[in-house]
Amino acid sequence: MLRPPLDPSLFDLDSNRLWVMHCSEGPVPKASLEAVHAFLPKESRPWSLRWAEDFLAIPESTKREAAKLLGTRPEDISLTATTSSGLQVVAQGFPWQEGDEVLAPLGEFPSNVWPWKSLASRGVSFREVPLWEGHQSGVGAWTSSPPPPDADAETRLLDSLTDRTKILALSWVRFQDGLKLDLPWLGSACRERGVHLVVDGIQGLGTHTPDLAGVSAFATGGHKGLLAPQGLGFLWTEATFRSMLAPVGTWLSVEDGTDFTRPSTDFHRHWLADGRRLEPGSPSLLGCVALNASLACLNGAEAGAIETHVRGLQDALLADLATDPTWGAEAARLRGLWEEDRLGPILSFHHQGHGPDFLNGQLQAGFNQGVYASVREGYLRVAFHGLHTPSDAARVAAWLGG
Ligand SMILES: Cc1ncc(COP(=O)(O)O)c(C=O)c1O
Repeated sequence: MLRPPLDPSLFDLDSNRLWVMHCSEGPVPKASLEAVHAFLPKESRPWSLRWAEDFLAIPESTKREAAKLLGTRPEDISLTATTSSGLQVVAQGFPWQEGDEVLAPLGEFPSNVWPWKSLASRGVSFREVPLWEGHQSGVGAWTSSPPPPDADAETRLLDSLTDRTKILALSWVRFQDGLKLDLPWLGSACRERGVHLVVDGIQGLGTHTPDLAGVSAFATGGHKGLLAPQGLGFLWTEATFRSMLAPVGTWLSVEDGTDFTRPSTDFHRHWLADGRRLEPGSPSLLGCVALNASLACLNGAEAGAIETHVRGLQDALLADLATDPTWGAEAARLRGLWEEDRLGPILSFHHQGHGPDFLNGQLQAGFNQGVYASVREGYLRVAFHGLHTPSDAARVAAWLGG
């Protein structure tokens, strides 16, 4: 058991360093570096850049891999630079009416806040909902209580919907406390009420597979669980929802956009119905080849194997810390969340009132041992992926338990 579904030899790992922070930035597989090295010379020798094989086929291939990972259709994928830009496409394109509202959980990552707040001048308001008793954010983030195993986050969100709510915008897996929200439950309840569920998926995709049945849009950057470089991600949109959005794309978003036998200045054309209608112009082919190879690496693992593996490593680490005087109580809380399937890839250990100096001291002790974790808003985050081994989990336990 626990043989990594992503062979560690596919990555440029350093045995002196253990990187358990793909929740900040994922390690890029060697195949993606090789794809970049193979492609980059074409940019300096443009005569070797082919229209059909490169300009058209590379983004198409990237979308096929993205769709495969999501279990959807390539037509529903739009390539976007970041999670934020995917959410901006939705925010700017949605047919708002003055007085409409966007609802979100308290303490979302800013990528899922500013695109909605920017709509204030159009009369659209943004409202946050605490997800459990004692939940705080912003200046109160460090005095927040952590999510308990029986957090009724979904009920609190659904009870907060009003007739004015048009979009419920949330992170599938939350960046600081690591809580995973139940997309099928939220999605079907939103559908019944005519509300669109829009998801920031960056902290879950790559290790976990979302159920998109009731989701209208799902945005992600490429540089965390997807193990690609920064600067290219994608937006998935449900076809009917996409048709409601103003087409924020440009010349590649209309019929015959790439057919130069037709004058480009002939503007009597229809917008495309597929994901291209939301794309911003010439794609980053360099970004595409890298993301394509990273996605192919993830798609090479058996379906569900990475999630099962990550859960196994989490189980092992929590067991090792169960009787630890410092982390035992947190291990018990996280065990409860783990048993309820409320966790994505991040184990977020709460500071338990010890404060920032304590957590940063722990973090520094980890760095000194070559273990790279991260601290956000009162939590020490340990994120496992498909390339980690049981001895990696034991190394984290030795650091935290030591
Ligand atoms: C939940 C969440 N959303 C989005 C991002 C990043 O957003 P972007 O891809 O726009 O840089 C992060 C982390 O950086 C995150 O944790």
